[in-house]
Amino acid sequence: MRELGLILLSVLLIFATLEVVASHGDQPLSTIAAQKAIFALHHQAYIKVSPTLLGLKGQNTDWVTVEFSSPNPSVEDWIGVFSPSNFSASSCPAPADNPWVEPPLLCSAPIKYQYANYRTPKYKETGKGSLKLQLINQRSDFSFALFSGGLSNPKVIAVSNKVAFSNPKAPVYPRLAQGKVWNEMTVTWTSGYGIGEAVPFVEWGPNGGQPIRSPAGTLTFDRNSMCGEPARTVGWRDPGFIHTSFLKELWPNTLYTYKLGHILSNGTYVWSQEYKFRASPYPGQNSLQRVVIFRDMGKAEADGSNEYNDFQHGSLNTTKQLIRDLNNIDIAFLIGDICYANGYLSQWDQFTAQVEPIASTVPFMIASGNHERDWPGSGSFYGNKDSGGECGVLAETMFYIPTENRAKFWYSTDYGMFRFCVADTEHDWREGTEQYQFIEHCLASVDRQKQPWLIFLAHSVGLFFCNLLR
Ligand SMILES: *[C@@H]1O[C@H](CO)[C@@H](O)[C@H](O)[C@H]1NC(C)=O
Ligand SMILES: *[C@@H]1O[C@H](CO)[C@@H](O)[C@H](O)[C@H]1NC(C)=O
Ligand SMILES: *[C@@H]1O[C@H](CO)[C@@H](O)[C@H](O)[C@H]1NC(C)=O
Repeated sequence: MRELGLILLSVLLIFATLEVVASHGDQPLSTIAAQKAIFALHHQAYIKVSPTLLGLKGQNTDWVTVEFSSPNPSVEDWIGVFSPSNFSASSCPAPADNPWVEPPLLCSAPIKYQYANYRTPKYKETGKGSLKLQLINQRSDFSFALFSGGLSNPKVIAVSNKVAFSNPKAPVYPRLAQGKVWNEMTVTWTSGYGIGEAVPFVEWGPNGGQPIRSPAGTLTFDRNSMCGEPARTVGWRDPGFIHTSFLKELWPNTLYTYKLGHILSNGTYVWSQEYKFRASPYPGQNSLQRVVIFRDMGKAEADGSNEYNDFQHGSLNTTKQLIRDLNNIDIAFLIGDICYANGYLSQWDQFTAQVEPIASTVPFMIASGNHERDWPGSGSFYGNKDSGGECGVLAETMFYIPTENRAKFWYSTDYGMFRFCVADTEHDWREGTEQYQFIEHCLASVDRQKQPWLIFLAHSVGLFFCNLLR
């Protein structure tokens, strides 16, 4: 007898608390008034960064030392990291709604920032300081600027040399997700190689067995896909290319290895490191299956930068704990409010880097939340500005989800004795809607004898209560 039969009756509704948070207060980069910045270079101020070439051992995370000095030091002085390194006004488009207005001097927010006195408390007296900052491979080079005037009236007083990873276009940050059928795993990753430049693929096979190659599809998007500020303006950053490959007809429970590859037009191969995953169990298979479900993760920087109200430091603790427990996790669900990029696109790369050890090893399934999707007039159920103008495009492109249309962020997936029905609280799910039909079908079509664990997942309870009270 299967003791799990006892759980036949339970449909689990997993919701975390409904929490109302101010939309822009969540993103540290939104505290910087980038569009008000001016250049006030001072010949006695300097900022220099070493080493200049990063990732020499093939790694996609590296540390730099920043040394700087100002003749008029203040506790408000800060260091901004820019990528691409050429951050001056010449690349700013004039505002589309008013072409007569001069474009701002600084049209992109830094990808991270830190106060000048963070590691050097005496900076205010001596005017000299240094910092260690962590950089990840984000497809472009970097430069650093020393600012006075605080975050609200930024004045660039010195600009550093440039630094870059040895291959900025390298394939990075693989994330696994269940495919549309139980025996298919999808691998999604980011690179700087467009389809005209190189052919993306995954080389994979059973651990120790003969590898094969599977092709990958490539997606990207431009600034016009963003719905508003800051994603369209200072938060915009080229997303590079996002590739997904479909590894099919997997054998249940089998350990596979894989690596990401690109064939350049001159025949040269560019490879990632090698990764491993275990294929999904057969639906209904009676075996140990361990599932982690959480939401509102956020991201933070290991070097202490971008810190604001201690808001998301805990996301590093969560990440570390999950990595420590990885041998006891078979599949993970992060059900909305994924990284709180809120329209600052650089943060998505940093998030995929942060969760890489988890997402490259077990299926990392996401759901959509207000901070991914909501934007007035964009089709989201709620008309708030919580996505910072992303209106779902980032979440729908950076991660694969097994749905016909990723803009309709609801899906089901089978994992052994589990059936997951993942709903999209940012779209209407009331009776009569397309999503309602999906939920009804997902719940009704499961064979409860084989899959006693029927799990309903959704990001927030707001709409759920609307439904109950209707
Ligand atoms: C800055 O660099 C990017 C890519 O490195 C390039 O596309 C862009 O044209 C450059 N902008 C300026 C103003 O040089
Ligand atoms: C192929 O092109 C890449 C990128 O342009 C270059 O680094 C590499 O040296 C080239 N290889 C050969 C064999 O020409
Ligand atoms: C999170 O990690 C930091 C640094 O390791 C530690 O100081 C802090 O106590 C941790 N927080 C929690 C809630 O465990």
